[in-house]
Amino acid sequence: MKGLILAGGTGSRLRPLTYTGAKQLIPVANRPILFYAIDALVEAGITDIGMIIGDTGDEVREAVGDGSQFGAQVTFISQPRPLGLAHAVKVARDFLRDAPFLMFLGDNLLRGGVKDLVDRFAGGRYAASILLTQVPDPTQFGVAVVENERVVKLVEKPKTPPSNLALVGVYCFSSAIHEAVDGLKPSWRGEYEITDAIQQLIDWGLPVDSARVQGWWKDTGRPEDVLDANRLILEDLNGQVQGLVDADSEIAGRVVIEAGAQITRSVVRGPVSIASGAVIVDSYIGPYTAVGPKVQISGTEIENSVILADSVIEDIDVRIDQTLIGRGVTVRGARKRPRALRLVLGDQSRVEV
Ligand code: G1P
Repeated sequence: MKGLILAGGTGSRLRPLTYTGAKQLIPVANRPILFYAIDALVEAGITDIGMIIGDTGDEVREAVGDGSQFGAQVTFISQPRPLGLAHAVKVARDFLRDAPFLMFLGDNLLRGGVKDLVDRFAGGRYAASILLTQVPDPTQFGVAVVENERVVKLVEKPKTPPSNLALVGVYCFSSAIHEAVDGLKPSWRGEYEITDAIQQLIDWGLPVDSARVQGWWKDTGRPEDVLDANRLILEDLNGQVQGLVDADSEIAGRVVIEAGAQITRSVVRGPVSIASGAVIVDSYIGPYTAVGPKVQISGTEIENSVILADSVIEDIDVRIDQTLIGRGVTVRGARKRPRALRLVLGDQSRVEV
């Protein structure tokens, strides 16, 4: 079985972070979201992986390389424009040929992996198999109606959802999907919807199977989702302190401090991940925080947050909470008088003071 990971798209809901980088490379617990997707495929025995890339393709290629760091071979496939998930399948046709494949959205995180779904599908009885989970607001997703695990109907982003079972963006397909994709017309949002292609398989009388998410699933489309995903991944963290911690610091709970990080006169309460080259001085780093490479934090308290590489946070006199900070950002307490907020914010930044 082959794999197809979608790592294109614009990441509009994650601006400004995605003005300068791919949404799939935003790190949670100091590792790009996309890497967890590759791990999930490899764990299910899928190592021949096609990766759909778009405008941010160069950055994705550089981070993933040839796939050997994951025990996989990765073939990059350019999608000239993000015209939908079914369009991605079409673009990948030469890579996929007639092999059965698993498609996975590269900005989705899944605890529990895809092995169950793949094992059921591998029996060869189904034209497709989809992973589903109950959601509070199905209008945001593709929604399935299921009878005894067989999918009988699918609708993309329904106004009146026929069930609360959402498609989580993990699909197994036989080669029958290609004919269904070829016959598609764009949806109301101008995209070729994989949901419509699967409905076509059902209309042809082909069997479509479903399985439920074991563990949790997170689509990391919005900043608050990235913070949630970070919390969920840190929940499973195994602590390991390799960096330098001085005698005046206190480390409690499950904390990863990578080699090359330095903690001075500070308190770190896990689960926390602190990347190499980070320097923490006179600060408190609280639970569910990921501090990226070469970040400098001094005189500051912070928790439930994700700080990307090369940022500087200094002398903030209120606790920073539920915060997502991009690369190379400076946040500094006002030392000048008059005491005032002095802000230089990129387009679509969000600040609560
Ligand atoms: C896509 C699919 C949708 C699915 C969702 C999962 O939606 O079209 O069926 O439920 O991914 O994340 P999109 O992210 O394109 O809005």
